[in-house]
Amino acid sequence: MHDDDLDDAPATAAADEAPLSAVAQHGEREVETALRPRTLADFVGQPRVREQLQLVLESARRRGVPPDHVLLSGPPGLGKTSLAMIVASELDRAIRITSGPALEKAGDLAAMLSNLAEGDVLFIDEIHRIARPAEEMLYLAMEDFRVDVVVGKGPGATSIPLEIPPFTLVGATTRSGALTGPLRDRFGFTGQMEFYSSGELEQVLARSAAILDIALDAEGRAEVARRSRGTPRIANRLLRRVRDYAEVRADGRATLPVVRAALEVYDVDELGLDRLDRAVLGALVRSFGGGPVGVSTLAVAVGEEPGTVEEVCEPYLVRAGMLARTPRGRVATGLAWEHLGLGPPAEPGGVDVTSASLFD
Ligand SMILES: Nc1ncnc2c1ncn2[C@@H]1O[C@H](COP(=O)(O)OP(=O)(O)O)[C@@H](O)[C@H]1O
Ligand SMILES: [Mg+2]
Repeated sequence: MHDDDLDDAPATAAADEAPLSAVAQHGEREVETALRPRTLADFVGQPRVREQLQLVLESARRRGVPPDHVLLSGPPGLGKTSLAMIVASELDRAIRITSGPALEKAGDLAAMLSNLAEGDVLFIDEIHRIARPAEEMLYLAMEDFRVDVVVGKGPGATSIPLEIPPFTLVGATTRSGALTGPLRDRFGFTGQMEFYSSGELEQVLARSAAILDIALDAEGRAEVARRSRGTPRIANRLLRRVRDYAEVRADGRATLPVVRAALEVYDVDELGLDRLDRAVLGALVRSFGGGPVGVSTLAVAVGEEPGTVEEVCEPYLVRAGMLARTPRGRVATGLAWEHLGLGPPAEPGGVDVTSASLFD
């Protein structure tokens, strides 16, 4: 299977339930809303995107016009939706929210657009999944604040131009590579979201712990941050699991030993790997001598869908420097052997693992 064949929807229900999934889970929206930063100043990390966005917004405010359209791109859980809402609140404007998959027909988008008031922010999440006819309508709307609504069918069909008030589109995507060129070109500003450092995640956790009234000490905070895969959504979720443990099995205070014991229960190891991640690495190393091996073969070995292995496990294993995607298949790096408590490979599968990690 090729990377581009994949959608970013969770491949299986199991992946959706995993404590370390970066995708929002069932019933998580409400608590996420409570924890969302409301202003740019409240938004931790992403110094580059924050500064760039601040300039875009401030300059538009001074000129008294709606700012350029904004595209936010990056992996799930890094704060794209939060930033979109912040754009609207910093501009003191209403936000209308929809998503690529919801815009199946051009008419769906036309309805959204014709309901906008001047200066409103239109947020389209997962914008790379927008249907073609809606996308083409969006070009004109973004550029000329106009849409052509086609009425009727066949030879009698006529197109009626419809003016729409100037607005700002904020698009979010986990796969900017899947966006068509013409759509990408119509955004005046693209913010590329990066994974968070442990220090930044500690700040996120301090803020969340205060909001949720959880007694998380500095050492405990550092430990949760280290295991959160650079992702605020995961940090916030692990924080809630730690709270549960602290309340039920301890005196409510999340100290370092409490955090460690809690994360042990949820199978989150020191580097933020879960059971499936370790199974994938274990199979790669033990059954296939460190690779190279195809992702489908690897998936069969751990009893999972190839999509889950590819979308849920691999991105973090690659980023953590434990797995490399090479043209010949997946390869375990020295770090993977080490993490599993094994010696270096006797025969590294004929692939130089150091240079192999440069692929992808
Ligand atoms: N920079 C940040 N500062 C504080 N909390 C954040 C930040 N980014 C994300 N979060 C938290 O992580 C959760 C997921 O963020 P979200 O904006 O929904 O991510 P995305 O849309 O990129 O998947 C939010 O509920 C919010 O609490
Ligand atoms: Mg989002």
